[in-house]
Amino acid sequence: MCSQEGEGYRLLKEYANGFMVSQVLFAACELGVFELLAEALEPLDSAAVSSRLGSSPRGTELLLDTCVSLKLLQAAVRGGKAVYANTELASTYLVRGSPRSQRDMLLYSGRTAYVCWRHLAEAVREGRNQYPKAFGIPSEELFSAIYRSEDERLRFMEGLQDVWRLEGASVLAAFDLSPFPLICDLGGGSGALARACVSLYPGCRVIVFDIPGVVRMAKRHFSAWEDERISFHEGDFFKDPLPEADLYILARILHDWTDAKCCHLLQRLYRACRTGGGVLVIESLLDADGRGPLTTLLYSLNMLVQTEGRERTPAQYRALLAPAGFRDVQCRRTGGTYDAVLARK
Ligand SMILES: C[S@@+](CC[C@H](N)C(=O)[O-])C[C@H]1O[C@@H](n2cnc3c(N)ncnc32)[C@H](O)[C@@H]1O
Repeated sequence: MCSQEGEGYRLLKEYANGFMVSQVLFAACELGVFELLAEALEPLDSAAVSSRLGSSPRGTELLLDTCVSLKLLQAAVRGGKAVYANTELASTYLVRGSPRSQRDMLLYSGRTAYVCWRHLAEAVREGRNQYPKAFGIPSEELFSAIYRSEDERLRFMEGLQDVWRLEGASVLAAFDLSPFPLICDLGGGSGALARACVSLYPGCRVIVFDIPGVVRMAKRHFSAWEDERISFHEGDFFKDPLPEADLYILARILHDWTDAKCCHLLQRLYRACRTGGGVLVIESLLDADGRGPLTTLLYSLNMLVQTEGRERTPAQYRALLAPAGFRDVQCRRTGGTYDAVLARK
């Protein structure tokens, strides 16, 4: 095999096996491997892990060794047996309760997104999301499908907040938001980004606007409402009056919807916005030619299998914002997963 063929074949196998790597991560999170090892007083052998998790000895040993190979666990030999402990990566990002934990997002990806991705070819053929095939439910009302049960709603809200613990401050610092004392986070979910906002701009107040079921859950299961600078407002941002504010945040909102629905929402928001105010769109930006970065392209396909929308280029966001009346559109890449677009009224 010539070296070019070898490289091509190696890449092909890496791509083809990518789903197995994801599943190892999802399964280990689902089973509670990382919590068990975090709570154990010393590294555990695979028999101890399988007996405490109630999992099969054979499956557990295979999973643990694969996690070692993926640098999620470390192994040492004691008394002739392998014993396992979390690596720094796992302790930081995979253990529930760690301040930087991404576990809930991984659980959501494994239980929901992955099931929709199973139908990617059909999604490409049909040009629509795959909730009907993946979960046997209609998806005309997008968020009725996404929130098809109370458990699903909670899982979605928990999953989505993980990234703001890591990237909330940097995305909100992409522009100086201190001139905007009253901020409305439209579709603000659990209030995780609102928390990052009041912590970075202590003088501001944030109204989190979301549909009633989400606001109810946010108050029951999350702690943003305990901060007196954060309040919650129930409503449908396509139909109900929007609270007046100096700045509207749309974080991961426009990527859910068609251009027509985005334009409708932006026009409503422009009318509600105070003069001199603005809108901050937080999304993962595609390159100008729409053919990168890879992560954003994958997120765009994720929007295809799960929503009505897509990720967009800076020019595509400008084309949505300008007809609504917004001017001075500025785009800033953060170097992280999400970028920021600020436009003024
Ligand atoms: C993809 S999530 C983004 C959540 C949050 N902004 C974030 O970045 O983590 C979309 C949010 O929009 C909310 N949403 C969807 N349709 C809505 C509507 N018609 N009115 C108000 N909120 C809505 C959802 O409940 C959800 O919280």
